[in-house]
Amino acid sequence: MTKMRPIITVQQHILDEQIRFRGASGEFSWLLSGITLATKMIEAQVRRAGLTDLMGSYGVVNVQGEVQQKLDVYANECLMHCLSLRESIGIIASEENEQPVTIRHESPKAKYAVVFDPLDGSSNIDVGVSVGTTFAIQRKPDDKTAEDPASWVLQPGRKQVAAGYVLYGSSTILVYSAGNGVHGFTLDPPIGAFVLSHENIRMPSQGKYYSINEAYAAQFPKPYQEYLRRLRTGALGREYSSRYVGSMVADVHRTLQRGGVFLYPPTTSNPSGKLRLLYEANPVAFLVEQAGGVAVDGSRPILDIQPDAIHQRTPMVVGSAVEMEEFARCMAGN
Ligand code: AHG
Ligand code: MN
Ligand code: MN
Repeated sequence: MTKMRPIITVQQHILDEQIRFRGASGEFSWLLSGITLATKMIEAQVRRAGLTDLMGSYGVVNVQGEVQQKLDVYANECLMHCLSLRESIGIIASEENEQPVTIRHESPKAKYAVVFDPLDGSSNIDVGVSVGTTFAIQRKPDDKTAEDPASWVLQPGRKQVAAGYVLYGSSTILVYSAGNGVHGFTLDPPIGAFVLSHENIRMPSQGKYYSINEAYAAQFPKPYQEYLRRLRTGALGREYSSRYVGSMVADVHRTLQRGGVFLYPPTTSNPSGKLRLLYEANPVAFLVEQAGGVAVDGSRPILDIQPDAIHQRTPMVVGSAVEMEEFARCMAGN
């Protein structure tokens, strides 16, 4: 009898997690299974986009002012469909929808809001480079403000009850945290399940990569330029190499595991940076802090920002301890 290697699926892990999950009665695992199902549907199409009619532009400009790709729309529909079947979800906000979508927010069963970027790194789809999905879960406010659907999602990232991403890369990996460490699950296609593969991801104290779009370097504020100079000249005691995929999920996944630093700074043309607070920066910041790293908007923790608009943007600098201490020194003029 061959000895079965014990597999722990993300469902099993979530069930174990939710024992610690305040007030959950299976609803948390049922909610997250809506996300995992949708991302398996997305993955199936990402992997064969060139064989179907799912490559290229959808031809509509979204609320971000960007031309939607067909896979952006498909991924958004998958998540909207799967999550609308979860009775514990009252509100959904997506990068691809101008307003939050109310599912059943008057229902007493509706306790959570889910925000997501259905397909992150859209410019990389047609050229076969890794893309991702990001998500975060907030609890319904327990005061009168809950009557306004937007209030469910306009909460600081510190209040997220869970957050994560799926990377459609050389393998498909779901990484999530419910506040008790960061855990990675690799999709095992023959069984169609996300199986625990990266338990309790911890960032090393220092890495060897920095990740930034150098094309905008002349537009970065001076402290950022000084920081890049120090990274390039061994001021942190080691030589750094540059890695930039252009899909945040891929760049963050490397940084989470190898340490180093990922930056999307303010520029003269985008003074608030490009990344969106609710469904890109907040989920990433939650994971990075849970993994022992630091995530700031340049001066304060991203998770402490009180959002006032669904699609507001924020500069984002996330990384391991040594790189982030040096970044703070540069920002303080030291
Ligand atoms: P999205 O495809 O969801 O709009 O996100 C793209 C983002 C992010 O994934 C990436 O880090 C960043 O855009 C890259 O922007 P630049 O091309 O300006 O570097
Ligand atoms: Mn994105
Ligand atoms: Mn997107």
